[in-house]
Amino acid sequence: MSRLSAPHLLGLEHAPREDISRILETSDTFREVLDRTIKKLPTLRGITVLNLFYEPSTRTRISFELAEKRLSADTISFTASTSSVKKGESLRDTVQNIESMKIDMVVVRHSSPGVPYYLTQCMDANVINAGDGAHEHPTQALLDMYTIYKRYGKLDGLRVVLVGDVKHSRVIRSNIWGLKTMGASVALCGPSTLLPYEVERFGCDIYTNIDEALDGADVVNIMRIQLERQQAGMFPSQREYTNLFGINRERLKHLNRNYTIMHPGPMNRGVEITSDVADGDKSVILEQVTNGQAVRMAVLYLLSGREEGEQ
Ligand code: CP
Repeated sequence: MSRLSAPHLLGLEHAPREDISRILETSDTFREVLDRTIKKLPTLRGITVLNLFYEPSTRTRISFELAEKRLSADTISFTASTSSVKKGESLRDTVQNIESMKIDMVVVRHSSPGVPYYLTQCMDANVINAGDGAHEHPTQALLDMYTIYKRYGKLDGLRVVLVGDVKHSRVIRSNIWGLKTMGASVALCGPSTLLPYEVERFGCDIYTNIDEALDGADVVNIMRIQLERQQAGMFPSQREYTNLFGINRERLKHLNRNYTIMHPGPMNRGVEITSDVADGDKSVILEQVTNGQAVRMAVLYLLSGREEGEQ
């Protein structure tokens, strides 16, 4: 039985505050394990996790795989490009065949929004969304929130600016829902062509001027500018995006003194962020990646329903 309010983690839009708090608190326990010489616990011994990635990933995939191994789960990694998907096998047939080999949990990344939910309808395993199209990327937002929490000891009352392609970013969406639930004030900033229709329904402050957005902010979380959007005519040129929205040292003067720079990766250095900012002493970009493992260990543990010490 899941120790969260649901057996799956599909997104943060409807996640209760208690679930998010429990994940962040549990992450702290697992974060400490990562600093030990032997970074391994028996917690998920006997549980088999399928990593089902239909889209490329570096951080999320490796982070989940390591989290599973550190909790002693058995893991299987599926890559669509080297599977029978290439022979035309459907998603449903693929997962039902793999589940027949006794899978307990599935971590899924897919370009289509809603695939994680669809899997819950055709298999019994616990499903974790590792990014579905432009919909949600809940574990990225949880690790972002955990990193902010570690830095400030709170989320409530902080002002967080999310910069980039608001229309297509699943990371921005999950951050909005999670941060607002935890009491942070959220501002969104990007070119007007990359703000979704009815953006005001997110309940955030909306900016198309980056200097105004950064004014008085504690945290700026900078999203990758998806260069394919430029080909689709969503903004005139990469250089113009960099001039109008790129985060450089000069722009940091607008932020609060104790500010934090974040980026979920992968970064386009020199486009949405300059290298001196990305590598500066206020940047927690690599800390986010380390914390991601602890957060994913927490999510796996809580969804598995395993009791401490149970094997
Ligand atoms: N942040 C993130 O999701 O990175 P990957 O696409 O490399 O997993």
